[in-house]
Amino acid sequence: MSAQIISGTEIATQLRTDLAREVAALADEGLVPGLATVLVGEDPASRAYVGMKNRAAAEVGIHSRQIDLPRDIDEEELLGRVEGLAADPAIHGILVQLPLPDPIDEARILAAIPPGKDVDGFHPVNVGRLSQGAHDVLAPCTPRGIVEMLVRSGHDPAGREVVIVGRSNIVGRPMASLLLRRGAGGDATVTVAHSRTPDLGAVTRRADIVIVAVGRPGTLTADMVKPGAVVIDVGVNRVDDPSTEKGYRLTGDVDFEAVRAVAGAITPVPGGVGPMTIATLLSNTVQAARSLREAGRNGTSR
Ligand code: GUN
Repeated sequence: MSAQIISGTEIATQLRTDLAREVAALADEGLVPGLATVLVGEDPASRAYVGMKNRAAAEVGIHSRQIDLPRDIDEEELLGRVEGLAADPAIHGILVQLPLPDPIDEARILAAIPPGKDVDGFHPVNVGRLSQGAHDVLAPCTPRGIVEMLVRSGHDPAGREVVIVGRSNIVGRPMASLLLRRGAGGDATVTVAHSRTPDLGAVTRRADIVIVAVGRPGTLTADMVKPGAVVIDVGVNRVDDPSTEKGYRLTGDVDFEAVRAVAGAITPVPGGVGPMTIATLLSNTVQAARSLREAGRNGTSR
């Protein structure tokens, strides 16, 4: 039997429709959520992602501003630009696209984003509060999107055995924190496997839900999946394909066709996790705008 395909594109469209309605209601109250994206350098994949984020924001009525900066920008100047956005009352969410070019100190730049405007959920205060189980916190977009996708497709992680492959700050670690939280979208039993895990297959075969986020095609093969398990593929890899117009195609970390024959449900690449990440960024921006208003800060202070 072939697995259910969990369409991130479809679920993200529902979310964006709901958000557009919410943003319109906020605008009637005089609050227009504002998102600033900062892109340093010319990496084509990063440029494409940031472009998609801004277009998606504009489509739901979020005021969006893209700041393009040269690859060789001085760290102090970049810091100054982030601080300018931190003080700007029209901006409620700040996203600095990663990775930043060497030798810029990524951690220093991320720490300059006020936690209340940190729509990526990468500031140490937000990371810490999330790992303590807080619910009123801005949490990273990709893992939050995955939880939403699991719940909306009928695969609530509560009480399930989840194995995450990959321990990055952007996906693996916050994914574990979210799934461990008490309450909605959490309450899972969580294992995080990584490049130093011996016999990865023995670990993933235990899982009711496997989430793969390592950035390497073919990481999860059919023999590593328990029959009927849910498989979430976070990888977005470009592989050469001369038969396509661009000369490459996108593929995930999962051996899709073979795993599909074993799994109960699976996300495709593209059209799986990617659209959920973007929809969640918009949701985080609206959450930030609301919270800043409630705190009486209107986006101006930390
Ligand atoms: N680079 C890859 N994924 C992300 C993300 O979710 N946020 C940011 N800021 N940069 C990224």
